[in-house]
Amino acid sequence: MPRIKSPHLLVAESGADRAGHGLRRTMGLFQLICFGIGAIVGTGIFVGLSDSVAQAGPAVVVSFVLAAVTCVFTALSFAELGGAIPVSGSSYSFAYAGLGETTAFLVGWCLLLEYGISISAVAVGWSQYVDELLHSLTGLQLPHALAAGPGDGGIVNLPAVIVIAMAAVLLVRGVRESARATAAMAAVKLAVLLAFCVIGFSAFKDGNLVPFSPAGLGGIGAGTTAAFFSYIGFDAITTAGEEAKNPRRDIPVAILVCMGVVTLLYCAVALAAIGAIGGEQVAGRPAALSYVVNEVTGSTIGGGVIAFGAVVAIASVVLAVMYGQTRILMSMSRDGLIPRVFEKVSPRTATPVAGTLIVAAVFALPAAFASLDAVMNLCTIGTLAIMAVVNIAVLALRRREPALARTFRVPLYPVVPLLGVGFCLYLMYETGWTTWIQFAVFLVVGLLVYLGYGRRKSTLATAGAVTPDATDAVLQEA
Ligand code: ALA
Repeated sequence: MPRIKSPHLLVAESGADRAGHGLRRTMGLFQLICFGIGAIVGTGIFVGLSDSVAQAGPAVVVSFVLAAVTCVFTALSFAELGGAIPVSGSSYSFAYAGLGETTAFLVGWCLLLEYGISISAVAVGWSQYVDELLHSLTGLQLPHALAAGPGDGGIVNLPAVIVIAMAAVLLVRGVRESARATAAMAAVKLAVLLAFCVIGFSAFKDGNLVPFSPAGLGGIGAGTTAAFFSYIGFDAITTAGEEAKNPRRDIPVAILVCMGVVTLLYCAVALAAIGAIGGEQVAGRPAALSYVVNEVTGSTIGGGVIAFGAVVAIASVVLAVMYGQTRILMSMSRDGLIPRVFEKVSPRTATPVAGTLIVAAVFALPAAFASLDAVMNLCTIGTLAIMAVVNIAVLALRRREPALARTFRVPLYPVVPLLGVGFCLYLMYETGWTTWIQFAVFLVVGLLVYLGYGRRKSTLATAGAVTPDATDAVLQEA
């Protein structure tokens, strides 16, 4: 019999670890929106834009819109489930309630790809802009041996380790402190990107957009897959379900506001960059936004400001995504599917201290030593698979739990979640068969871990009530 956790039980068990040490509800709507912007806007636009332009040329704007459309269908599903089941586990918990424990574990396993690789990749991107900032401030550069891992010709990527360590310290201190820092960082990066747009558009030339789509539809498709990374993170808003003041109302609103703002911003930045100096100049260039500003203004000061914005922006992504990862692991641990150390909440700081330190230590290693290019597609396919599952979970829960209190409902149901699944599958297809093979191997390993550990230790199994009806009956008796 599939083990499915009732959404009511998920909510009833939320808010504290099994020893009763609770999280604190401190985040209002504004903090949630800042947290979302904090999680989304970072390496993808500051570093990855030049890769997307290399694929699609000026038509990268279309790629950004297509990537946003894929995300928006899924974002609507996240908004529905985030409002109906406001718990830290996010997509993992939604899959548990919608499709059962095995799928939920695999979603949690894929989240290690989405969040884990993002943390490491983003930290590596941070190091590029730290170097750029240092250079524009002092004329000096970090020794390559200490600014890149062995795969990129160095020894260790020290800045990447430092940003992960700083994020861990902040997260351990408390969610209020982390939310304040994220809000400040979100304001800085929005201001810097808006300033970039003003500078870029001041030098805009129509001719720079011609030819608009040098690599045709194939280029736009490849650009969309590359641009997709820049939207990853909106789902992290749902991991704040147990620390938001009014999650049922605020989480759906925060997701939709963030997606709207970010899509407009990305399209404007891409147009400003290409309109100012042309797609060929942007394509594949490291620290491309700084370069554009330096070219337009004829001085390195503006580029330095952009580099500062990037350093702040990317640090906030590390912080917010790490937050999400620790909260998801906390939920999985509370459900017994992974060791208990991840669920323990410190009564002093009301944060999962041990889990946070473990996450930081584990993901600092690939950030320090690995070249992540080879696994970026794996991160993308894993994220798309999670998104597809969340759309399917909306369909499953509408059928099985029609009376579940939903503060937001996906419009045009079931067309929108079905389109969400379709777009995710299309982008998964675009990642290529090598990535599919890697992903299949990754899933098989996850399944073995589940069968070897989670399936036996699951609290749902040990409680003996493995269907939503049975658990709801137990809840009612309690
Ligand atoms: N969307 C995040 C970024 O672009 C992961 O850095």
